[in-house]
Amino acid sequence: MKRLHLGIIGCGEIARYMVWMAHLVPEVRVVACCADRLERAAAFARRHRIPRTCADLTEMLARPDIHAVYIAVPHDLHYPMSLAAVEAGKAVLLEKPLARTLEEGQALVRATEGHKVGVNYQYRYDSGCYALARAVRAGTLGRVHSIRINVPWHREAEYFERSPWHRAIERAGGGTLITQGSHFLDIALWALGEKPASAMGYTTTPAFDVEVETLAHGVVQTEGGTLISIVSSMVAAREGAVTIEVYGERGTAVYRNRPFPSVRFIGVRVRREHPPIWGIHALHRSLAAFVRWVLQDTPFLIPAPEALPVLSAVDGIYRSARSGQRETIIL
Ligand SMILES: NC(=O)c1ccc[n+]([C@@H]2O[C@H](COP(=O)([O-])OP(=O)(O)OC[C@H]3O[C@@H](n4cnc5c(N)ncnc54)[C@H](O)[C@@H]3O)[C@@H](O)[C@H]2O)c1
Repeated sequence: MKRLHLGIIGCGEIARYMVWMAHLVPEVRVVACCADRLERAAAFARRHRIPRTCADLTEMLARPDIHAVYIAVPHDLHYPMSLAAVEAGKAVLLEKPLARTLEEGQALVRATEGHKVGVNYQYRYDSGCYALARAVRAGTLGRVHSIRINVPWHREAEYFERSPWHRAIERAGGGTLITQGSHFLDIALWALGEKPASAMGYTTTPAFDVEVETLAHGVVQTEGGTLISIVSSMVAAREGAVTIEVYGERGTAVYRNRPFPSVRFIGVRVRREHPPIWGIHALHRSLAAFVRWVLQDTPFLIPAPEALPVLSAVDGIYRSARSGQRETIIL
């Protein structure tokens, strides 16, 4: 197989960015799309010059000319759709989070073992996050005692009106922490290479009439004792830069995603590492790396099991926010 034929499942916000990115990856061709409504998929196909519209998932998975699918749908559909795709013999690039709940995430990992299922936690391919994680992994900062993550994002009411599933716990599994903050909590856990052990958290919904939290504060302790704190928000009056501050015994690293991804090392000299694949953006690199994984078996940074630690940490923070207690994290 020289060129990967990709089907897109879910024609929403993120799917349109991925279609643009697909134009920049010569080894992939988007050949079909489907959505919850045929008209939506047909309009998406017209806008992005996708040759075929499928009525639904079943029709798409039955097509032998589709080698892989990109699943970008509400969180409650991540588990059943990934399973169906793997059973149909397709490789899968699944949007984050791995699943709506930890139980579904664990079941997904078990059921898809040995298959190519990647999760689009694309910040692992962000130049700043990658350099930061590699420096921490190499021990350049010394033992890391503390990581502080701030995600001061802003959403308008339109975000929930356009995609009402974001409002509902049953569909989304949670709000800003699972949907936005989990990107950067994943980076912290990946950088440390340690399992999360326990968590405490507070969640609240100071703005928007929705079931899910729009502000979350959490602390996760890893098995090695490092404390990771995260503030994840949809309610900042103005969206600010995401920051990840890593405090090690020899030095500090500070990541910012704006105005462009960057990491500054303080107190230590670091030979920066670059993401293992070229691209104009983390999404571009993530897609290109997935395609190479399927075609050439070159490693992809986030196979499904890699997305489980962050889901278990999110689950721990949510359980603690409900119980008011420190919760042990289940992996
Ligand atoms: N990696 C990122 O940076 C990033 C950014 C945004 C969203 N996401 C993730 O992408 C996923 C989708 O989010 P979104 O913002 O695009 O949501 P969205 O509401 O804009 O789009 C969801 C799409 O799913 C489709 N859908 C719903 N039910 C379906 C069904 N039964 N069969 C086929 N399609 C169906 C709908 O047609 C809709 O177009 C979520 O997992 C979200 O967390 C990732």
